[in-house]
Amino acid sequence: MTRTMKALVKAKSEPGLWMQDVPVPQIGPDDVLVKVAKTGICGTDLHIYKWDQWAQGAVPVPMTVGHEYSGTIAELGTNVTHLKVGQRVSGEGHVIGFKSRASRAGRFHLDPETKGVGVNLPGAFAEYVKIPAFNIVPLPDAVDDELAAILDPLGNAVHTALAFDLVGEDVLITGAGPIGIMSAAVAKHVGARHVVITDPNDHRLELARKTEPSVVTVNTSEDLRAVAESLGMKEGFDVGFEMSGAPAAMATLTDQLVMGGKIAMLGLPAKPFEYDFAKMVLKMITIKGIYGREMFETWHKMLAMLQSGLDIRPVITNRFAARDFDTAFKSAIQGGAGKIVLEW
Ligand SMILES: NC(=O)c1ccc[n+]([C@@H]2O[C@H](COP(=O)([O-])OP(=O)(O)OC[C@H]3O[C@@H](n4cnc5c(N)ncnc54)[C@H](O)[C@@H]3O)[C@@H](O)[C@H]2O)c1
Ligand SMILES: [Zn+2]
Repeated sequence: MTRTMKALVKAKSEPGLWMQDVPVPQIGPDDVLVKVAKTGICGTDLHIYKWDQWAQGAVPVPMTVGHEYSGTIAELGTNVTHLKVGQRVSGEGHVIGFKSRASRAGRFHLDPETKGVGVNLPGAFAEYVKIPAFNIVPLPDAVDDELAAILDPLGNAVHTALAFDLVGEDVLITGAGPIGIMSAAVAKHVGARHVVITDPNDHRLELARKTEPSVVTVNTSEDLRAVAESLGMKEGFDVGFEMSGAPAAMATLTDQLVMGGKIAMLGLPAKPFEYDFAKMVLKMITIKGIYGREMFETWHKMLAMLQSGLDIRPVITNRFAARDFDTAFKSAIQGGAGKIVLEW
């Protein structure tokens, strides 16, 4: 008899998600079955819930969604000898192939065959999720299940923040969503001098100050140059993180950086936009695109930083039982909240 479990499924090609009874995934010899404890709701999940153009093109229906998770190992594939049943884990949600030049060189995060748990592979908003053993990341005691459920977006923040040297540098972050806020805390943790974060939403700026009290928050309607001068910057910021996806933010960063400044860009613009490349050229600015997390350096560094004083807990603002997912999704879509965690 097939065992069944509760899962949040994109069951129909229309807005919404449905809690359904589906079979518990069958694992292969190189997989692990994880009993899910907590999950984080991501912007990606909201796109899938709303069923926008991107989601319609990317997600086959039916599909169990969700990719930010923590849990314990319930079952091991026959080839998996380095992990144990009962072990607390999280894991990388990008599932890669091993054929490409990048993969074979150990640059796993650059594999072009990458698939996404909860996007085009069955996801983690369920009682159980099947994950390749390669993707599993065991958790240290210092990282509880709730924090572990948001390691995926913290990893985005860490990947962005560690793209360039920040020691003694002044950092400008555009976008105080959960990932921008966490990147501010990471920048401070690794030794940046001033960290300034901008957003048009004052609630988000308030959450930024609550999470990282040393961060300077500036509403996009305010005069950023004056703030930089008041902090003693004469020529501008050294490093920028683009964490909003807003075209205006790239213009702001380009204007506010020093000559030779660097931009790590994680924010995903919804569509192509106009950008003044002449300014970028004349200021000799470097722009680096950031996708996902480095496997597995980002994971190693973020767990190590969480064990050595990095605190991002206040970015989690709402907690719901999984059965109340519809309320959880509606409050996420409303905006203004930080990370929302579902308990399974
Ligand atoms: N590259 C990746 O691997 C990856 C992974 C996850 C998320 N993302 C993207 O990263 C970005 C941040 O993710 P999030 O979950 O924190 O998003 P979010 O939508 O919660 O936050 C974005 C914030 O940017 C603010 N904003 C809008 N216009 C702005 C402007 N002109 N200047 C400054 N701030 C502005 C919004 O008010 C909001 O608070 C999103 O664009 C998301 O799509 C990329
Ligand atoms: Zn995510």
